[in-house]
Amino acid sequence: MRSFCTGNFFSFSAGMPRMAIFSLVMLGLAACGQSSNEGDEAASAKPAAARVLTIKFPHVTAPGTPKGQGAERFKQLVEERLGDRLKVEVYPSGQLMNDDDSMDALAFGEVQMIATSLSKFDRLTTKFQVFDLPFLFPGLEVVERFQAGPAGQELLNELADRGFQGVAFWHNGMKQFGGPRPMNDPANAKGLKFRIMESDVLQAQILQIGGNPQKMAFGEVYQALQTGAVDAQENTWSNIYSSKFYEVQDYLTDTSHGYLGYLVAVNTEFWQGLPADLRSELNDIIIEVAEWVNDQAADINEEMKQKVADSGKSEIVELTPEELTAWQEVMRPVWAQFEEEIGADLIQAAQAASN
Ligand code: LMR
Repeated sequence: MRSFCTGNFFSFSAGMPRMAIFSLVMLGLAACGQSSNEGDEAASAKPAAARVLTIKFPHVTAPGTPKGQGAERFKQLVEERLGDRLKVEVYPSGQLMNDDDSMDALAFGEVQMIATSLSKFDRLTTKFQVFDLPFLFPGLEVVERFQAGPAGQELLNELADRGFQGVAFWHNGMKQFGGPRPMNDPANAKGLKFRIMESDVLQAQILQIGGNPQKMAFGEVYQALQTGAVDAQENTWSNIYSSKFYEVQDYLTDTSHGYLGYLVAVNTEFWQGLPADLRSELNDIIIEVAEWVNDQAADINEEMKQKVADSGKSEIVELTPEELTAWQEVMRPVWAQFEEEIGADLIQAAQAASN
């Protein structure tokens, strides 16, 4: 008996108020209940193999980013290998909904899969804040060792009982600062309004350097920079290039001060409701795609950094070793502020991945 809905009852728009979405979701769930019962009756009259389930997978970045390419590869492999049983609909660039709404939609089963920045789960768990601690991870290979170890793997199940079954981690890359001034000296960040993702660690990080943090959805960043609603931002080269932030930032400084990666999550009920053989084959594809994305994320970011440089629209600033040390020292107090919430053991496990 299926307890999830695969029909397309409605779609969300990015600007829709959260209460309206909640009401629609509840309405949709009622409709899902009805239609899935009807579906079950119909299904009993025809062979099970005739039923094709749909995985809706909305995300906010452009198709060329590590996430955009990963989502397309996932679709391609699922449809090649399991096309008689599963169909994947990918909605890139926030065209179906923004991240906050997609998290609600996943929890309620309106979409079946998301790959959302770990920073944005802040409202659901403080554990993922470990990924936001500045300069904790020197590079993607260290993040990957941490994620593959026991502490990292446990995080995949952190939100399973709230509807988010983690199935993989995907990298985007390391974040860089952009703004109206070069950020080789942390003092240059003072007084600037920084757009950040919805994370209290990122907020503390900006306060620590004397900036004014503004939490804001990804889809609003370009315009906010263009109109001066914010002065500065932090993101990866692939997001800076594909979302054209470099067109509205005079300087981009290669600080690589933090990690941006994703929890790939499926709706828990959907996942558990899949026939065991299908779930196992789907899981194999998910593992294969995660390896593929993580293998090429650094190269994609390097290529896009080069494209930003070639555009000549924004100057790229590299840090000297002394400047890097100054940045690390000024941001380090953020770790102590969040140690209790995150757990000293988790921070230590992340640090141990560097050795
Ligand atoms: C952001 O909001 O800057 C990122 O989460 C976007 C993304 O998904 O990479």
